[in-house]
Order: sequence, then C-alpha cells, then structure tokens
Amino acid sequence: MEIVFRESTSQDLEAFTVMMQATYEDAYVDDELGLTKECFSPEVFKSDDTQNYLKTKLVNTTQQKSWLALDRDRIVGSVAIECEGDSCEMTGFYVLPSYQGKGIGKQLWSRVLGFTRNKDITLDIYTHNKKTIELYRHWGFREDTTKPHFYRHWPEWPDGLQAEAMYMRRHIG
Ligand SMILES: CC(C)(COP(=O)(O)OP(=O)(O)OC[C@H]1O[C@@H](n2cnc3c(N)ncnc32)[C@H](O)[C@@H]1OP(=O)(O)O)[C@@H](O)C(=O)NCCC(=O)NCCS
Repeated sequence: MEIVFRESTSQDLEAFTVMMQATYEDAYVDDELGLTKECFSPEVFKSDDTQNYLKTKLVNTTQQKSWLALDRDRIVGSVAIECEGDSCEMTGFYVLPSYQGKGIGKQLWSRVLGFTRNKDITLDIYTHNKKTIELYRHWGFREDTTKPHFYRHWPEWPDGLQAEAMYMRRHIG
C-alpha cells in the first residue's frame, strides 16, 4: 500500500464526502446518546448544509491548508488547518476506518505541525470520542477549560438530539 499526500481542491468534494461519511458513521454512532447510523447517513452528507461545510474543508489559501491522503485514487484521510494571528484551528482530521492505525494520521499531523510551526493549535471534539481525545493528549493537547462544553445539533437529526463537545488546545511555550 502506497499512500500519497497532496493538497485538496474543490474537485475532491465527491470523494471527500464518501470518505467523511464512512468515517463519521464508524466513529460517532453511539446507542446511549441516541446517535444512530441515520444521523451520519449518505443522505445527511448530501444535504446542502453538510456539503457547504465540507467544501470549506477543501480550501487552500495562505492561511488555510488542507491535505488529503490517497491510496491510488481513493481518498483515505484528510486534515485541515487554519491560522489567524498566533493561533491555528485544526479540523477535518479523519482516516477511513480500515486505514486507521497504520500511521496515516501521524503523517497528516506532521504536515499540520510543519505549517503551524510554533503556534498554538485548537480543536473541538465530541466528548464521547474517547479514543481520539487520548490520541490528542498524547500529541500534547489538553482540554481548554477556559471554554465551556457545548452541544451540536445537526439540522437533519431528530429534534432534541444533541452531542456534547469540548475544546482542546496544544499550547506552545
Ligand atoms: C484520529 C485519526 C484521524 C488518527 O488517524 P490514524 O491513521 O488512525 O492514526 P495513526 O495510525 O497515525 O496513529 C496515530 C497515533 O495513535 C497511535 N495509535 C494508533 N492506533 C492505536 C491503537 N489502536 N491503540 C493505541 N494507539 C494507537 C499510534 O501509535 C500513533 O501514535 P504515535 O504518534 O506515537 O506514533 C483516525 O483514527 C480517525 O479518523 N478517527 C476517527 C475520527 C476522529 O476521531 N477524528 C478526529 C475528530 S476531532
């Protein structure tokens, strides 16, 4: 398996959507919270609001970079980083389930570090995503306790269903 990394373009939207949908469904479905497969279905990912969100993750400018990992022509991973002033926000960090644990995320992360240099990096994460919270802690992130937890509700989800999220920060010096 040879994984190739490159910056994304708006042309990647369709294949990017396929990768994101499969990865969200695997990572975020949680019976106890009521987050079902339907909450992250291909239909939900085709909706205007989700497509508009995903488009923003493919943009490359001087302040924002977005990389994809590809196995032949298949998108198997992604990350986006946007910097403003002394701080950068990391989003869209996903690796297709069958490709996880093989070092692809780490290679995407090394590109993020190269771009942010010594700036702080922030992110938000669902609190039920314990495995990735541990990974971020391992890479130097800590919960940003100056900001309260918040709740996400996607417009396509049933009324009243929400998922708790929190902020983490990797603080430099
Ligand atoms: C988070 C994610 C992008 C990481 O990508 P990945 O390709 O699986 O990561 P890697 O294989 O490069 O591993 C990253 C680190 O985790 C460690 N790791 C990987 N699999 C592991 C496992 N099963 N148990 C413990 N540690 C593990 C690796 O050793 C590595 O540590 P290192 O930096 O010291 O070498 C990917 O797992 C994912 O998409 N998860 C679900 C979605 C998600 O949570 N996204 C983040 C939203 S905020």
